[in-house]
Amino acid sequence: MPPTTPPSSPQPALTAQAVEVTYANGHRALQPTSLQFTQGQFTVLLGSSGAGKSTLLRCLNGLVRPSAGRVTAPGLGDITGARALREHRRQTGMVFQQHHLIGRRTVLDNVLTGRLGYHATWTTWLPWSRAERALALTVIERVGLLDRALDRADQLSGGQQQRVGVARALVQSPRILLADEPVASLDPATADRLLALMHGICKSDGLTAVVSLHQLDLARRFADRIVGLQAGAVVFDGRPDALSHDMAARLYAPPPPPPHAGASHGAAHFCPPEGVLT
Ligand SMILES: Nc1ncnc2c1ncn2[C@@H]1O[C@H](COP(=O)(O)OP(=O)(O)O)[C@@H](O)[C@H]1O
Ligand SMILES: [Mg+2]
Repeated sequence: MPPTTPPSSPQPALTAQAVEVTYANGHRALQPTSLQFTQGQFTVLLGSSGAGKSTLLRCLNGLVRPSAGRVTAPGLGDITGARALREHRRQTGMVFQQHHLIGRRTVLDNVLTGRLGYHATWTTWLPWSRAERALALTVIERVGLLDRALDRADQLSGGQQQRVGVARALVQSPRILLADEPVASLDPATADRLLALMHGICKSDGLTAVVSLHQLDLARRFADRIVGLQAGAVVFDGRPDALSHDMAARLYAPPPPPPHAGASHGAAHFCPPEGVLT
């Protein structure tokens, strides 16, 4: 029998270690949570409204500083240090339900804002380089909007605007893609197409993705792994085919009444994102 080479063990791309979030009002949105996201894995977060999906995603990109525990990335360690946080955000593309586009600016200009993390503040007064414009056009082509690149963002449909949001994340050349309900505002067919596009890009580029969704059917189709949250705690973590109907129903059951939460010694801090145009 020929010798078999052991499969290389998957590399962690992002790790949450006993991460806990208690907001300043004393509400504990995330119980101590440990999760490791491996390189190239497409993880879907499921859970009803208020389950803690956005809080977890915000911890993973450093928008919320955990009250306890830490988030680490390879080569950076704990992401909360100023330099590590800047580098982590550069490596992490973020897609939101509300895409936060600047309506009166072109698709190309909006996508280019994804490059701000690569520049010192003062250089954003300068025109974008040819290389950056070319990169932006490449990602705009990947999301199927090259013919709309010079149109105002507010002339696009909701689905097209979310494609711009995806392109803006991709122009960062990220290692990780985090998406908070990226298809929640779209009709089912458009949601399906957008998620298929995101999934295809993540797989072809080897990106590690963590995406929160409401749609169980989309989670089952696209996820390598589903993490189910309820009242700030992980209640399921496994492959889509291991998610039973009972567990799925539990994830969407009304949340149990919150336990009494006293003011915390270590409330979570909100850290505004860098490079956001106001
Ligand atoms: N900034 C905040 N201050 C206080 N409570 C918050 C804050 N953000 C979220 N929460 C609360 O934390 C819980 C989890 O919220 P969130 O992470 O947004 O859940 P999901 O994204 O699953 O709907 C909810 O009860 C929500 O009301
Ligand atoms: Mg949310």
